[in-house]
Amino acid sequence: MKKFLIGCCYYPSHWEDADMPKDLARIKDLGFNCVRMGEFDWSMFEKEEGRYDFSLLSDTVACAEKLGIDVILGTPTAAPPKWLADKYPEVLCVDAGGTLMQHGSRQHHNHTSGIYLKYCAAITEAMVKHFAGCKNVIGWQLDNELNCHRAESYAESDDAAFRIWLAGKYGTVEALNKAWGNRFWSLEFNDFSQVTCPRPKPTHSNPSWITDYYLFMSDTVVNFAAVQADIIRRYMPEAFITHNGMFPNINYRDLTDRCLDFLSYDSYPSFNEAGSPGSGRKMAYKFAGMRDFSKEFLVLEQQSGPGGQLSYMLPTPRPGQIRLWTYQSIANGAVGVLYFRYRTALFGAEQLWYGIYDHDGGENYRSWEIRKVTGELARVGDIFLRERLRCDVAIWSDYHNICANKVENFAKSDAREIFTELNRRNIAADMISDPERLSDYKVVIFPHVAVADEALAEAICRFADMGGIAILSARSGMKDRNVQYRPTKAPGVFRELAGCRVDWFTAVPGYEDQRIRFEGREYPVDTYYEMLVPESGECVGTYTDGFCKDQPGIVKCGNVYYIGAYFHKAPELYAEIVKKYVDHRDPVDPDVEEIRLGEHTMYLNHSDRAVAFAGYDILEEKQFTEIPAYGVVLLWEEK
Ligand code: GAL
Repeated sequence: MKKFLIGCCYYPSHWEDADMPKDLARIKDLGFNCVRMGEFDWSMFEKEEGRYDFSLLSDTVACAEKLGIDVILGTPTAAPPKWLADKYPEVLCVDAGGTLMQHGSRQHHNHTSGIYLKYCAAITEAMVKHFAGCKNVIGWQLDNELNCHRAESYAESDDAAFRIWLAGKYGTVEALNKAWGNRFWSLEFNDFSQVTCPRPKPTHSNPSWITDYYLFMSDTVVNFAAVQADIIRRYMPEAFITHNGMFPNINYRDLTDRCLDFLSYDSYPSFNEAGSPGSGRKMAYKFAGMRDFSKEFLVLEQQSGPGGQLSYMLPTPRPGQIRLWTYQSIANGAVGVLYFRYRTALFGAEQLWYGIYDHDGGENYRSWEIRKVTGELARVGDIFLRERLRCDVAIWSDYHNICANKVENFAKSDAREIFTELNRRNIAADMISDPERLSDYKVVIFPHVAVADEALAEAICRFADMGGIAILSARSGMKDRNVQYRPTKAPGVFRELAGCRVDWFTAVPGYEDQRIRFEGREYPVDTYYEMLVPESGECVGTYTDGFCKDQPGIVKCGNVYYIGAYFHKAPELYAEIVKKYVDHRDPVDPDVEEIRLGEHTMYLNHSDRAVAFAGYDILEEKQFTEIPAYGVVLLWEEK
């Protein structure tokens, strides 16, 4: 990004024609340099099949250009028009129970209908050709939040596409039967034509079948997006292509590699905030997930008002919070932030999703707060283009394991809890899913990576041989990519590098107060634990209760730790190990998020009380002695 993008989502179709120039002038006056538009306007762009009319947006784009405002256009394919669904009902999505989704909301189409793909390609091509000459159209958003409302689809076209996908993957139906273990409960197929997407069953389903369905769902989304990306690249190679994630059943590594210049994110901290004032900090985990795919990303929708839909209402941002959340996005990696939305709609399904301006359109505390942010960014925005958050620690999370874990879900991964604990202690962490990137970190944690192959084991070995610290944990390495267990002792492919084997395991019985003792402290185990037998490794942690009392629970083998249990409630264990290997400073306060950029450090106070801390704040250009409630300060720190 050449300049820091700051702006809002703007929907000219929701207002009178005469409002548009006035709105854009106000957008400019707010200090914005960018708007995002168009992502739900298909019924206006193509009122009748093949008759395209983009005048609604071309006037706005032209007016924005005069004002020096850049535009990101969205392809409108998340909201197909009525005539399309009427003419071709097969484009509609069907839920697992067989109910056909109807026109009347959005995302009611499926991603595998050849007809839908054809119409999406046509509207994309018409739109891109129309705007190709507009210099201020700097980028495209593909569709909108793919898989946001429904991440599964069971239409006829999905069944047909699933069969083709499976035939491509397995070649013969015999190979499919073997890969899925279909002899179990008499599930064998005689022919690919018998296979369908997995539908509701009386009891537990075949895990390999469902995992493949999730992998397939992701591929259908990537194929769907690729059609649009290829068209945009053909006509506007200089514009960037992005998409606003992150939702279930999408492998964002595939989506980003195949279709995007970078992935983007929509940040709505109030979904966490409903809990307690400090919980906005939880967004850090989402941003770490974003950085796995795009080190630099845009926040295409940043919450700017109280959020609600017809069935719920979230609290309004308290004074200071919009600014706080904006800087949180930025310090965590965003190189542009667009507020959702300029003004609250008077009609439609989102009358309760408040934008910067309320229904009346007048100035309010939120618009003044945003002016303060844009004023600051005009002075210091470049810092955030130059300096990035750098993490010494990463937590592994790959799509295949996410899918497998969704199916065999008696134990939830500790990944999020570990991240939160590290974040609380000022230890910055990324999420990663690319073995090539292991060497970027001093410590990589692999929580419960059940599906793993020799290639991953070798990558971890190389990382540890080069001085990296790897921390593996319970239920690792035992499954192959078909999510079948290996006929070996756990941790399967990791056994040699972990230097231990698992001799037995158990769910934590309710009557047991099981803990692991490590370096003089005890950490309560939950859900599940394994009794380890050191082979080439040494025991560094032992259980405290039950019939494995004093037996190994943590084994260290060179630079690799293997922790044989789950610690949802006590992720401190991980932090205690990690902090031996990375520099970090004690937090100013438990509710203050500290983000160290290159030469600058940002302190974000997520609490509703002032926190004593002193320095010179670059944002407000003044000396300070406390960070106010929901306040932010940016310090320059001599290295
Ligand atoms: C996002 C979506 C927007 C709008 C917003 C507020 O998820 O992309 O179109 O719906 O939420 O609900």
